[in-house]
Amino acid sequence: MSSKIFDMNIENQIVSRLEEDRTLSDKELSALLETDFFDSLLFESADRIRKSIYGTDVYVRGLVEFTNYCKNNCYYCGIRCGNTVLPRYRLSQKEIMDCCETGYKLGFRTFVLQGGEDDFFNDETLCAIISEIKSKYPDCAVTLSIGEKSYKSYKLYFGAGADRYLLRHETADDEHYQKLHPQNMSLQYRKECLRNLKEIGYQVGSGFMVGSPFQETEHLIKDIRFLQELKPEMIGIGPFLTHSDTPFKDQKSGSLELTLRLLAILRLMFPNVLLPATTALGTISPDGRELGLKAGANVVMPNLSPVKVRKQYALYDNKICTGEEAAECRSCIDLRVNTAGYRMVVSRGDFFK
Ligand code: 5AD
Ligand code: FES
Repeated sequence: MSSKIFDMNIENQIVSRLEEDRTLSDKELSALLETDFFDSLLFESADRIRKSIYGTDVYVRGLVEFTNYCKNNCYYCGIRCGNTVLPRYRLSQKEIMDCCETGYKLGFRTFVLQGGEDDFFNDETLCAIISEIKSKYPDCAVTLSIGEKSYKSYKLYFGAGADRYLLRHETADDEHYQKLHPQNMSLQYRKECLRNLKEIGYQVGSGFMVGSPFQETEHLIKDIRFLQELKPEMIGIGPFLTHSDTPFKDQKSGSLELTLRLLAILRLMFPNVLLPATTALGTISPDGRELGLKAGANVVMPNLSPVKVRKQYALYDNKICTGEEAAECRSCIDLRVNTAGYRMVVSRGDFFK
């Protein structure tokens, strides 16, 4: 018997077991993560499962990056407070509403308000913004992505109408977390925030960077185990990308291949999850987002921020879509989704169990 047939059997077994059981042992996950041997079968299976649940539908979220001020100093992030060469901006409530209006006309039914941790936007201001969006666009979902806040604050935003919250855990390993963040931040508090958000009733998105400095396979396995425990409705992952004005300026970026592999694994483990093909994936490779969709992703997040501030929301170098108007970004991404064989839908795109 040829060794190829034997190999094909193993390949089939491990991927179909992942599909059936929605889990694997640590050792098996390492095998999937550490070689490209399983990739084509992984991508094929992930796409089949995604199509069995979502068909070719891709949900679209309009991203409004409303402040690049941040009080945190994460070593990987371009908008960290220690980056003194970055010009800072804040959008006014009126400017945020204008972004939503443009977005609504373009068919967006979810607005993601993303920003650094900026205390200028206190609870009262944020609630006013959320309420105004919800009262003007009651058929839309509002997603917040504004970092770590108290239980009380999360509760207030939820009361004002926020539906969803994105807070990546970044890495589920304590020691690794400490290598990516200053002393005053902790994985334990991050996890507590995620638990609070769930308890309050948000649809929650978590996730991590792929190929962040010092990351090992065992950390990725911990990320997967943490997600299995948390059961988020959304999982955002993208490659770590170097930013030249951060302490990680000499670190190398994560890879397209490993990110795609993880997307496929996550689709098989969490068949119903909302999985974005991220801007970071589109930045690392010109067809990164298309490849992400083919590996199981089913969400895209075009940028709705005013072009004049786009370049300043620089989490990493060479970020794409920084010169395009919202309409251009929308049609560019429409074309990309179609080219990949999928179809963008006008819908809130809620998670369904
Ligand atoms: N490369 C890739 N992703 C980054 N993020 C922040 N900095 C970088 C970077 N240099 C991600 C983090 C954060 C999200 C908003 O952007 O995971 O949670
Ligand atoms: Fe923004 Fe292509 S998605 S320009």
